[in-house]
Amino acid sequence: MVNQSKVGGLKRGLFQASVIGNERICTDHYRLTLAVAAGFPPTLPGQFIQLGCSPTDHRRAMGPGGLDGRDIQWLPGEAPPLAAPGLLAPAAMLKRPFSLAGHVIQDDGRAELEIIHRVVGVGTAWLARLSAGDAVDLIGPLGNAFGMPEGRSIPLLVGGGVGIPPMYYLASWLSRRGYRGVGFIGAVSRDLIAGRLIEPGPAIPPGGPELGHSAAIGEFADHGFGSVVTTDDGSLGMRGRITDGLETWIASATRSDIESAAVFCCGSTPMMRSVAAVCARYGLPCQVCLEQAMACGMGTCQSCIVRLEPDCVARTQGQPARKPHGQNEQGRDWRYFLACTDGPVFDSACVLW
Ligand SMILES: Cc1cc2nc3c(=O)[nH]c(=O)nc-3n(C[C@H](O)[C@H](O)[C@H](O)COP(=O)(O)OP(=O)(O)OC[C@H]3O[C@@H](n4cnc5c(N)ncnc54)[C@H](O)[C@@H]3O)c2cc1C
Ligand code: FES
Repeated sequence: MVNQSKVGGLKRGLFQASVIGNERICTDHYRLTLAVAAGFPPTLPGQFIQLGCSPTDHRRAMGPGGLDGRDIQWLPGEAPPLAAPGLLAPAAMLKRPFSLAGHVIQDDGRAELEIIHRVVGVGTAWLARLSAGDAVDLIGPLGNAFGMPEGRSIPLLVGGGVGIPPMYYLASWLSRRGYRGVGFIGAVSRDLIAGRLIEPGPAIPPGGPELGHSAAIGEFADHGFGSVVTTDDGSLGMRGRITDGLETWIASATRSDIESAAVFCCGSTPMMRSVAAVCARYGLPCQVCLEQAMACGMGTCQSCIVRLEPDCVARTQGQPARKPHGQNEQGRDWRYFLACTDGPVFDSACVLW
């Protein structure tokens, strides 16, 4: 993986963006494309942005006037009345983290950023209502990034639910560097697959027919990647979990393919834990993107702590070793790391699940 010092260090900023498009792509998921004027730093897949999910002027508008864009009129030592509409209306006061699903720099230096989000609460519901021309503010790029491990050439991209978007960015980034691989997508049912379905999909290298696929994902096919789709209810692709898809691929691959493969994974914690276990069993290197709930996204609030083995993090991220904070029942050293600045991408072998 690529640590922060190699992805531009702490180069990041607060940017104003305007909405280019906001398209519903399945039940609950939207693809939001944003334009940022010249100056947005280069990014890598795995990195994320903190996106304002309420009107850009709401922070000024919390005074007695409510959400009307007026400056705050609090008197020193006083609070605004609790009945102020600005305090009563549900609004996402903090920015929300979203992985980049794509980043293109246009000839004129404008950045086009893509995120795919699932409506789960007040902030994402607000995002779903945006339309072309609307304004949002964002901070980014944040976090470290995925990187192809040395000596490996077949990327296996495993994304579940809201963990799918960074896999699309990774597929486009890897394909520009000459890699071809397979994207694995898991969802509860067909209507929750956040991607463009192409039916029938192209064959999956290797062992396509055994995988019983009936569709490919356009966002992978566009970059020469095959797709393996699994749904819990069998409404598309293989019935089962994403690990069933991954293990079926492994079972039909040659030893040399397995020795060339590297897994990149993002999804819920139980899903990533299971994928990490499969990878450990077959000796596959695996990088996971830990989308821990975050408040600031920049190392200030300490809300996004995760427990990892410090020596393993130092080894895999090329960082100086840090002291452990404790030891688990198996005698394994652990330390708290911040998912937002030390990660979100880590070697799965370092994580104390
Ligand atoms: C680095 C990172 C990248 C992310 N990338 C994406 C992405 O590409 N697409 C996407 O749809 N979502 C992504 N998420 C999750 C996204 O940030 C949350 O869904 C969003 O903050 C919810 O905001 P809300 O105001 O709609 O929901 P809220 O009203 O704040 O919360 C609604 C519910 O969601 C839960 N929740 C909020 N954040 C998380 C989280 N991180 N994990 C589990 N539960 C959570 C809350 O506890 C609550 O139960 C990412 C999170 C992180 C940390
Ligand atoms: S989100 Fe604030 S420290 Fe990580």
